Amino acid sequence: MYLTAKKVRQRENFNLNWFFYHGEEDRRPGESDTAAYKPVKLPHDWSLEYPFDEHAASCGSGGYAETGIGWYRKCFQVNPDVLIGGRVVLQFDGAYMLTQVWINGHYLGRHVYGYTPFEWDITELLYRDGGENVVDVRVDNSAQPSSRWYSGSGITRDVWICGVRDLHVAPYGVWVHNLEVTKEKVRLAVETLVCEQSTPVRDNSAGTVKSITVGTSIYGPGGKLCIQEQIKEEINGIQEAGRRSGENCSGLVHTFHQELELSSPTLWNVDNPALYEVITRVYADGVLQDEVHTVTGFQNARFDSKQGFLLNSVRVKLNGVCIHHDGGCVGAAVHPQIWERRLEKLKKMGVNAVRMSHNPPDPALLDLCDRLGLMVMDEAFDEWRILKGKELGSNTHESRGYSEWFDNCHEEDIRTMLLRDRNHPSIIIWSIGNEVPEQTVPEGYLTARHLKSICKELDPERAVTQANDQVCAEPHAATEEFLNELDVVGYNYVDRWRTRQETLYDDDKRAYPNRCVLGTENSGLGGIRGEYLMTLQERAGWWKRPYYSAPVEIGRLLRFTMTHDYVAGDFMWTGIDYLGEAHWPLHSSCAGVLDTCGFEKDSFYFYQSIWKRSEPMVHLLPHWNLNVKEGSILQVLGYTSCNSAELFLNGKSYGRKAYTYPAYGMTEKYGHYDKNPTPINTNDLFLSWDVPYEPGCIELVGYVDDKEAARHVVKTAGAPAAVRLSCYRQQMKGDGLDIAQIEAELLDSQGNLCVQADTELIFTVDGPACVIAVDNGNPEEMESMKKNHIHAFHGRALAIIQSSGETDEAGLVRCSTAEKCSAQTGTKQCTVRVRAEGLTGDGIPIIIVS
Ligand code: GAL
Repeated sequence: MYLTAKKVRQRENFNLNWFFYHGEEDRRPGESDTAAYKPVKLPHDWSLEYPFDEHAASCGSGGYAETGIGWYRKCFQVNPDVLIGGRVVLQFDGAYMLTQVWINGHYLGRHVYGYTPFEWDITELLYRDGGENVVDVRVDNSAQPSSRWYSGSGITRDVWICGVRDLHVAPYGVWVHNLEVTKEKVRLAVETLVCEQSTPVRDNSAGTVKSITVGTSIYGPGGKLCIQEQIKEEINGIQEAGRRSGENCSGLVHTFHQELELSSPTLWNVDNPALYEVITRVYADGVLQDEVHTVTGFQNARFDSKQGFLLNSVRVKLNGVCIHHDGGCVGAAVHPQIWERRLEKLKKMGVNAVRMSHNPPDPALLDLCDRLGLMVMDEAFDEWRILKGKELGSNTHESRGYSEWFDNCHEEDIRTMLLRDRNHPSIIIWSIGNEVPEQTVPEGYLTARHLKSICKELDPERAVTQANDQVCAEPHAATEEFLNELDVVGYNYVDRWRTRQETLYDDDKRAYPNRCVLGTENSGLGGIRGEYLMTLQERAGWWKRPYYSAPVEIGRLLRFTMTHDYVAGDFMWTGIDYLGEAHWPLHSSCAGVLDTCGFEKDSFYFYQSIWKRSEPMVHLLPHWNLNVKEGSILQVLGYTSCNSAELFLNGKSYGRKAYTYPAYGMTEKYGHYDKNPTPINTNDLFLSWDVPYEPGCIELVGYVDDKEAARHVVKTAGAPAAVRLSCYRQQMKGDGLDIAQIEAELLDSQGNLCVQADTELIFTVDGPACVIAVDNGNPEEMESMKKNHIHAFHGRALAIIQSSGETDEAGLVRCSTAEKCSAQTGTKQCTVRVRAEGLTGDGIPIIIVS
């Protein structure tokens, strides 16, 4: 009797068949000519299509990348499925920045912030019945330097075309508000905002009464129906539901409230990220008008001044990392699979929380955190009203930034972030800013109060923080009024100020015992993968410490954070190397434990040894192909979660060593220990041996209860003889958008990784896919990474391949849709091969599925 869900709401990906023009000249929106354009797929970031340039206006902060103005055009006929509901909406997940949109030459409007979504109802402007439509988009990233990190330029996130009926659930209109979450039950307030958009605008106040029913069904992790309830109301006239961004409703607006209770819920946590699906159906006079699916989960996240942080009443230390939004060689246009591979690795390292520094992330990234069990600090801004400087390179441009737009845009942007994201169970805290200078200014607390009040209005439950870097700075420290506005005081680099070097959080703990404390940002080990500084560098960047010093310094704060309950945890800077915030000749920052390719650096294992103590592991460094004289004394470091570890060089033992973490204590009576104390050699969180260098085989063996539990073997490698390829995701959809990530490693004839090899690798693909970008993790790589060849860096490189379509006589890229692919060719196989100066790589077959 009712229309099916497919017929009332249709959301289609709108990423294919776009054209792009890079330049300032007006492109005359509405014309269908694309002669001056080149075909592109979205998401798209033009900044990385050019080599890095020392004189680029984006400066070192923006990664010396190209910026400017870009135009996008897409000519399309509306798919009849989209028209079935009547209304058509064009949705952008994000574009950097200052985006203007026209449909068939009619100007729709402008959206400024590069990290929040926006949409327009285009119903009245569309040609239907096979008529050709033109959408034009102008993206302006010319005010430079606009960001303290690489922003990317273009329509950097997905675009969707969506068909709905006049009466529909408003954008982000379903809120599954967790009122009470315990092991026994979950009490929910489900709010459904329904609106009516009609043309010409009907004056509902004149009063057609409609009987509207909202039905909510909740399905549990196994797909089991847990709750199904309906609410029916007679609606008469316009009812204001408060200010909502992206609402765009010209007719009725009404919020339906349902209180629901779920007994014996499976709560969301990091080990078991249980997800529920909420299906909302809206009926008018008994006829189905809309159906919306919302994925959510139930958790109780609480910060506490004594216990730090509790998830579902259990104390959990936040072992967090900060990340920026770029995906390395794909720039800001990041396929979710790139995040998936990176996040899976971070999770293996023991990370349980991610800070989205310093802007609302791609929604796909939050979906992944929900699914993988990673807690999230969702952050709105890096800048409020006061401009932050951005010159890092040789250029001394005047900085630009969000402060120019803050007054006009912040209200809508932060509301959109909250409305878009508040159903995500992964989010445990909102951050209203990062290191905003307002923290030290007398009136600054008023802005903090205002932003926090918006968060509380839209989500009273979750805590709010700001990441403060000036808590005890001299002469202008963060004001007490400012810090008092925050539910949780975020400390950035708590060990930075001279009086804090040893006392860290303790002074504040004594002065403000009721304060909730979180390390919103602190130094990580940093460094370039495969490079080992032996002495302090002249121009010591904060990651340019000798390899043996970095873990000493980082270990101090880490040990304090891990062993003091009142510190909720720490977000280390950073999980992954990111583009920008660099000094020429580098294009990226080297703060990560993963490089821009997602390859693990040694520091990865340092954190793993602390954050994943339950799993026995050992890791030694440096590598054993060093360019040093035989016999020179080298410090060999060992990271381990085992009770002790022994180092062997060419079969000779250099002794067994141990550190304790956490330190042993007596229990029950004097002289009684839970475990046999091991003699320890150090108060650091790693082991070290002084060893005379001699090529060969160096091994670290980890022991638990005196038995070998882990071993890391490193051999001096010979010349490269082969390439080993491994592929993240063996299957790709033939939709023209899906990707696979190919890791290449150079091996010698014995299968050892050639850590010093820089052989050029050329990736070729047989089959319906192509290489879209390559990277090697070298921050000094200056060529564009949008190519199919690159020199290996310390023996490794990465290629991203994307499923492709056919090219027709006009030279236009026609991407195969899934249907086309299966109809024409069925399942296809594509093989990636690597050619490398005389070496043959193995082919990696990837199955293309339709
Ligand atoms: C912090 C800032 C980050 C990054 C970091 C390291 O102060 O919040 O965005 O700049 O320093 O350079």
